[in-house]
Amino acid sequence: MQEELILDPKHPGIKDAVYIQRRQEFFRLGKEHRLIHGYAPQVEYSQEEDAIWQHINEKLEAMHQRHACDIYLNGKKNLGLASHKLPQLKTLSDRLQQSHGVRILPAEGLLSPREFFQYLSKRIMPCTQFLRHGSDPEYTPEPDIVHDVLGHLPPFMNADYAELMQLMGIGARHANEEEMLQWERLYWFAIEFGLILEQDELKIFGAGLLSSYGEMAHCLSDKVTRKPFDLEEVINTSYDHTQMQPLLFYVPSFVYLKNEIKKLIKN
Ligand SMILES: [Fe+2]
Repeated sequence: MQEELILDPKHPGIKDAVYIQRRQEFFRLGKEHRLIHGYAPQVEYSQEEDAIWQHINEKLEAMHQRHACDIYLNGKKNLGLASHKLPQLKTLSDRLQQSHGVRILPAEGLLSPREFFQYLSKRIMPCTQFLRHGSDPEYTPEPDIVHDVLGHLPPFMNADYAELMQLMGIGARHANEEEMLQWERLYWFAIEFGLILEQDELKIFGAGLLSSYGEMAHCLSDKVTRKPFDLEEVINTSYDHTQMQPLLFYVPSFVYLKNEIKKLIKN
């Protein structure tokens, strides 16, 4: 857990004093509500922020319709996201809770893997509330509300997916360091960058892919090696989060992935 906000020196907003102040306010609000209040605060977004959200959302939506998996598309529709306005996490949390008992807590930034998996084990998904800098809508060096809401939340409207995420949390919560690395790799190659076969066609379910038009176009191109998901290979393969992903894995179904996750859970 970060005690204070530390931004990447290459962050596009690093020289924008107004942005930094806004980001600091989200850091303070998010941390306070995550640790003390236990729910996401109501946030008033500016017209400029709504416009950035709309710009990214519309570009992503066109690609989602072509490349996202069914569970994602159905979840996105049922979550009721507005294209022109940033969503309130509290509203989304209420919807997810009614569906399959998943709650959202606000996150001030990236949490430690151990903390994050602890939340998943309780059917809680931490989500950021701040938005990337408007000068480069395609890029963010840290997870933001576009990544978390448009990437991660829609499939939680599906019972199998909600259970699968909780299983990851349960499996990882008492992991030693070596095991934690395996859970992080599994999370990376499945939840962030996973592909799924639907009617013999490769579709996307990874949040890191679905929240970036660059990654989405890249992941289905011939620059990427795509292999059938193999648990042993996945947990022994390292990755570089600073680059476009050269290697991806696809699963035949979410039930298959859930069963693979169960193999890694110690009794
Ligand atoms: Fe993520």
